[in-house]
Amino acid sequence: MKQILILNGPNLNLLGKREPEIYGNRSFVDYLQTVELVFPDIQIRYFQSNHEGELIDKIHELGFSVDGIVINAGALTHTSIALADALSAVTAPAVEVHISNVHARETYRHHSYLSAKCRGVIVGLGLMGYELAVRYLLSLGV
Ligand code: DQA
Repeated sequence: MKQILILNGPNLNLLGKREPEIYGNRSFVDYLQTVELVFPDIQIRYFQSNHEGELIDKIHELGFSVDGIVINAGALTHTSIALADALSAVTAPAVEVHISNVHARETYRHHSYLSAKCRGVIVGLGLMGYELAVRYLLSLGV
């Protein structure tokens, strides 16, 4: 069975409560159930942490065995060379997702250290971005 790792970074545990005008009203745990229904034949491994090192540890732990990584590193996207290095270090292809259109927001959100380490980037499509990223990774047929 194929496995896809979905990684969420800081503050994304508050989806549904956090700035709903930007991030919507739905919790990620609720949305994840939809993703699992859409892709019944794969195993979704989900991990969220507010701590950079824990995200890096999870990439190290699963990044050589899963078929793909969907990563929304939250604000660490814009600051973390260490997370970018972790994505480079492992074999699984990754897709970067942002719920909001970061390019329509503050300029400090326009740069990502992760994008160059990912196959592609999905921004501004809301939670649907995660589903599209999973679909793309499965299409790679790895
Ligand atoms: C985000 C965008 C980031 O700039 C922000 O820090 C987040 C969420 C998004 O999904 O739109 O925490 O990654």
